[in-house]
Formats: sequence, C-alpha cells, structure tokens
Amino acid sequence: MKTFVSAAIAAAGLFASSVLAADVDPIVIKGSKFFYKTNGTQFFIKGVAYQQDVTGNGSSSSTTYSDPLADPAGCARDIPILKQLQTNTIRVYAIDPTKDHSQCMRMLQDNNIYLVADLSEPSNSINRNSPAWNDQLYNRYTSVVDALAGYTNVLGFFAGNEVANAPNNTDASAFVKAAVRDMKAYIKQKNYRTIGVGYATNDDADIRVNMANYFNCGDAANTIDFWGYNIYSWCGDSSYSTSGYDVRTQEFSKYSVPVFFAEYGCNKVQPRKFSDVPTLFGNMSQVWSGGIVYMYFQEANNYGLVSVSGSSVSKLPDFSYYSSQIATVTPSGVNSASYSPSNTAQACPTASDWGAVSSPLPPTPNQQLCSCMYDSLTCVVKSSVSPSDYGSLFGQVCGLGAAVCAGIQANATTGKYGAYGMCNATEQLAFALNQYAAGQKNNPSACDFGGSATTKATASANANCKGLVSQAGTAGTGTVTSAPTGAGGSGGGAAATSSKGAAHAVSVPGFEFGMLQLGVYVVGAALSGAAMVLL
Ligand SMILES: *[C@@H]1O[C@H](CO)[C@@H](O)[C@H](O)[C@H]1NC(C)=O
Ligand SMILES: *[C@@H]1O[C@H](CO)[C@@H](O)[C@H](O)[C@H]1NC(C)=O
Ligand SMILES: *[C@@H]1O[C@H](CO)[C@@H](O)[C@H](O)[C@H]1NC(C)=O
Ligand SMILES: *[C@@H]1O[C@H](CO)[C@@H](O)[C@H](O)[C@H]1NC(C)=O
Ligand SMILES: *[C@@H]1O[C@H](CO)[C@@H](O)[C@H](O)[C@H]1NC(C)=O
Ligand SMILES: *[C@@H]1O[C@H](CO)[C@@H](O)[C@H](O)[C@H]1NC(C)=O
Repeated sequence: MKTFVSAAIAAAGLFASSVLAADVDPIVIKGSKFFYKTNGTQFFIKGVAYQQDVTGNGSSSSTTYSDPLADPAGCARDIPILKQLQTNTIRVYAIDPTKDHSQCMRMLQDNNIYLVADLSEPSNSINRNSPAWNDQLYNRYTSVVDALAGYTNVLGFFAGNEVANAPNNTDASAFVKAAVRDMKAYIKQKNYRTIGVGYATNDDADIRVNMANYFNCGDAANTIDFWGYNIYSWCGDSSYSTSGYDVRTQEFSKYSVPVFFAEYGCNKVQPRKFSDVPTLFGNMSQVWSGGIVYMYFQEANNYGLVSVSGSSVSKLPDFSYYSSQIATVTPSGVNSASYSPSNTAQACPTASDWGAVSSPLPPTPNQQLCSCMYDSLTCVVKSSVSPSDYGSLFGQVCGLGAAVCAGIQANATTGKYGAYGMCNATEQLAFALNQYAAGQKNNPSACDFGGSATTKATASANANCKGLVSQAGTAGTGTVTSAPTGAGGSGGGAAATSSKGAAHAVSVPGFEFGMLQLGVYVVGAALSGAAMVLL
C-alpha cells in the first residue's frame, strides 16, 4: 500500500496550529513508571525510532549523520504520518547541537510528541573496544543536553546505546555509568528541569540481567533514571513465552525505575505484523512503559515503516500492520497519587558471574584540569609530531616504568583511574613524557625521545589551576573533587566541535595502543625501551 503526502500541505497545517499551542506537560518519573506531571496520568511510550542513516552503537565507521530535528521540512512531512501511528514519542540517535531545533520541537509539541534523545553521535560515542569517558565526550554530551533541555517535550536522554554486548567488554559499562552520573549532575548544576538519563541495552543473553542490575545499583547519584531495552525476540506469530517476553517481564517486575522497549520489531518474518503490541500494552504494561518501534525510515537493513523520497512518503506493508495493532491498545495504568512504589534498587553484580568491572567509576571529565596540568609541564610532545605516531611514543614512555603512566590510565577492571585519563592524547602523552623526564632529574637528554619531545617553560598558574593540579598529585593518581566549571561543562563548545573529527581519530587508538604496549614493556622490554629512547 502506498500513500503520498504533500509536505507543503502538511507544513501549512502544522505551522498554523503552532500559533495557538502551548508547551506540553513534562513527563516525570515516580518509582518505575512515567506520569504526566500535572494530572498524574500514567504515560506509556507509543514510540517510533526516527532517524535516517545513523548507527548509534559506537561501531560505525561513518562519521557523518543528519539531524532530523534540524530539518523542518522533513518534520512537517513526517509528523502527520507519525500521528497516524498514535506516536507520542520519537527516539532520535544523534542531533547536531550547533543547529536550530526550534521548529521541529514546536511541531512535535503541537502534536503531543515527546523526544528521547541519545547523547552520542557516531564519531563521539563510548566505544566498547576502547572505552573512555573523557573531555571530548563530556563536551559532546553536555552540548546536546544544553541544546534540548529547554523543551518540555524532552522525555529523557540515553547516555549510551548497546555499548557492552559480551562478557568480555562489560568493562565499557563503567564509562557509560560515569556518563550517566555526570549528565544527571550536569542537569542539576545547570538548574534545568529534571530530565531522566538512561541507557539503551541490547538483549545479550549472557549479560542482560547483570547489565540491568549494574546500571541500577549502588549510589543513587550514579544510577540510571530509566532503562531502555532493544529487543528483537518476538518474530512473526511468536508468543509471550516463545519470545521470552514472559521471562523479561518477570526479571523487570522488581526493577525500581521505568523500563521500556527502546527498540523493537523483529524483521526475520516479513511483513512484520507486530502481534506483540497487544501484549506489550496489555498485561505487560504493569511492568513496561511501552516501546519504540525500530524504525520510521526504510533503509538497507529493512526495518522501515515508510520509505521516503524527497517530499513524498510511501507507506510500506509494516506501516498498516503496526498502525492497526497500536490503534487497539488502551493501557490503563495507575495515577501517580495512588501509586506507592515498592521496588528498591538492585544489588550490584559480582565480578565472578559477568566479567570484571570493579565498583569505582571513572572520574568526571574536567578540561580545565587537563589544560592546567599541561601548562604546568616542562617536557611535552613536539607539535611537529604526527598524532599517528603517538601510539608508539606511548608504548616507549609507558614502558619506562608503571609509575610514568599511572596518572593517565583508565582501567575499569582494576578500578584504577588516573586523574588525567580523561585528557586528550596530546596532554596525556606530554604528561607521561614529563613524568619520565622529572624522574631523571630533568636531565636535558631525558626530554628527547628521539627528537619527539621538547622542553617548554611552565605557564604561570592561577590559584584554581594550582588547586586542581595539587588534588591530582605529582603522580596524577589523586582524586580531583572540584567539579568542572564553565559553559558547556568542561570546555568551550565551539573549540570542541571544530576539533572533534581529528581528536577522535587519534586519541583513542593512540592511547589504547600505548596501554597495550605497557604490559609488554613492563614484563620484559623496559630496559631495551629505555635504551632506545635515550640513544
Ligand atoms: C492528563 O494530561 C494528558 C496531557 O496533558 C492528557 O493526555 C490526559 O488525557 C490527561 N489525563 C486525564 C485523566 O485527563
Ligand atoms: C550497529 O548497528 C547497526 C545498525 O543497526 C547494525 O547493523 C550493526 O550490526 C550494529 N553493530 C553491532 C556491533 O551491534
Ligand atoms: C569477546 O567475546 C566474543 C564472544 O562473546 C568474541 O566474539 C570476541 O572475539 C571476543 N573479543 C575479544 C577481544 O576477545
Ligand atoms: C500476561 O498474560 C499471559 C497470558 O495471557 C500470562 O501468561 C502472563 O502471566 C501475564 N503476565 C502478566 C505480567 O500478568
Ligand atoms: C589537547 O590539549 C592541548 C593542551 O591542553 C590543547 O592545546 C589542544 O588544543 C587539545 N587538542 C584537542 C584536539 O582538543
Ligand atoms: C586492565 O588491567 C588488567 C589487569 O592489569 C589487564 O589485564 C587489562 O588488560 C587492563 N585493561 C585495559 C583495557 O587496559
């Protein structure tokens, strides 16, 4: 079935209605449910994932994305179609915080559609193979929060999507949990409306229970506000038990924050008839707050409800099946006033049954700390050294003794985080070179590294810098308790935006290479490494 809609007509209608419209009532969280703030009616997500050409799971090699909420013509074209699907929430994987979102957000509000926004983007996300929570990511995340927090129809943010996906990379979750902690703190610090920060997990049988527990255990300042579940286990005419929805529902029946399907709609059997919808919004609605169908746009992966070409939209067979299913559901829920939450936070998983993630979290990124540290150094990497050579330099210098690089490590398995593990690659490499040179009593030949290092004068430090660097300690292993300050959190938005491509391309692989080399040098080659360096 195909239907064509004129974007111009749709846009005229949407803009006309916006003149009269007010901001929507925010959605608030109480216990494990969402509610409209004003009247306390329970809110169930009838959602559709809405973004073309993006993978939000940190594995994409593509570094470009298009922001659907910066495209008013696209919003005007699609919102009427989304309304035909009873959509009250969209999920967008990557917005561009430098763009204007006001028109799309207005149109969404006028149609009572809420937004769940992921905070990362393909080239700025926590990578399961070399996880980090650093100044650059902090800057990206806070800039998205800043761009969206003013809209009352923002339901929440995802601090990560499907980052850990196997027992051998659960350590990446510590970095995501640190991101959750810091974004919750940032929203408070900026006096924004309370907006929840959650995580969207994949449905990996080996780790799913522990993942859900890990993110909702321990100090409440660090835990997720809601849990998103990307689940594709109900295919074709499956059933409550065959799909495993029954066991998942059992597992989450004691969960203390809202849980919903952050992506669903298996396409192994086509067309998709969405026979799970009546169950999800039926008796599963005692535990789940609805779900977000993956996805609006038809792409190579074949999950589209519609196919879009220019200003025209063609409805695909899945559209009508989902449309009829979602039209029949009427989850009733409870009113906030008569709901007394009884579930409590989960117990933390133990290392023995899910891979080793120790309980300390990575420190809060603090760009000011990093530049103060850099300014205090007398031995740094030469600006002529290509970032592609950083990896081997990390290998050399970290091989000269474990203490040299303790201040820049970030290891969620040991729970050891140097104060400068969040800094950029240039700052980290300079810190390590300087540590080594200082240990050689600043003998000039110690700051050379085959011509890659050079001495510089220490910049004069203000009291704030002195305080930060002294908390970090000489070895960089101290705990810095001062919160990051300044616009956009830890750093200037404009600078970080303009440098993001290059910084990401070099800093993470370079650092990881250095850390991998560390082990090798420490066990055998430290002396030969030292000899080579000092020749
Ligand atoms: C509560 O408010 C929401 C949105 O403002 C509305 O959709 C809902 O119908 C209201 N609930 C009741 C019981 O009136
Ligand atoms: C990442 O997402 C894309 C698009 O959904 C998918 O094709 C790919 O398999 C995912 N990769 C991983 C490692 O999950
Ligand atoms: C992690 O485990 C998965 C299987 O669960 C395996 O495919 C992958 O190669 C492992 N990765 C590493 C780095 O060992
Ligand atoms: C939902 O209904 C199914 C069968 O219709 C039943 O097996 C299941 O226990 C119910 N689940 C809940 C959460 O009530
Ligand atoms: C890395 O840090 C140095 C020193 O603080 C700074 O000059 C440089 O601009 C930073 N690089 C990036 C890509 O942010
Ligand atoms: C963390 O430290 C452990 C123990 O020294 C080591 O086995 C592991 O490879 C380290 N992980 C990373 C990501 O460096």
